[in-house]
Amino acid sequence: MTTKSTPPRSRLDPEAVPRRDWLGLSSLWTMGAALLFGTIGMLKLPKAAVLASPSKKFRIALPETLALGEAFIPPGRAVAVFRDAEGVHAVSTICTHLGCVVKPNPDGFECPCHGSRFKADGEVTRGPAPQPLPWLKVSVSGGLVTIDEGATVPAGTKVQA
Ligand code: FES
Repeated sequence: MTTKSTPPRSRLDPEAVPRRDWLGLSSLWTMGAALLFGTIGMLKLPKAAVLASPSKKFRIALPETLALGEAFIPPGRAVAVFRDAEGVHAVSTICTHLGCVVKPNPDGFECPCHGSRFKADGEVTRGPAPQPLPWLKVSVSGGLVTIDEGATVPAGTKVQA
C-alpha cells in the first residue's frame, strides 16, 4: 500500500492566502488608509479665517473751503458731512431702498439705481426708497470730526464744531 503524502512546502512557495482572509486583510488595510488620509486631511484643513471687521469709525478734517450747508463726502466713504451754523452732522449716503450709494445734487441726493430722491437732511422726496437716509453719530475734538458709520442718531442731531 502506498500512501500519497504531500511534499513539504518550500519557503519559496508560500501557502496561498484563503479568499476570506484576503478580503478581511484588504478591508483592514482600506480602513487604515481611510483613517490615515482622513486625519491628514483634517490636519491640513485651512484654519478659520475670522477677521475683525474694520472699524466703522473714521476721522476727518473738514475742508476750510466747505460752505455752510454744503455736503462734503470723504473719499471712499458713503457719508455726507455738513457744517452749518448749528453744528456738524453726517448723513449716510446708502440708499434705503436697495443700498446703492446716492449722489449729491443741488436739492439733496439722488439715487442712480431707481431714482429715489432725498433732501439734504435725508428726508425722502421721491420713492421707491421707504425710509429717509439715516443720520450718523458724530463727535468733534481738536478740529477733527469723528464719524461712526455704525451708529445712527435721531435726525436733527448736530454737534458743535
Ligand atoms: S437703491 Fe436707491 S432707489 Fe433703489
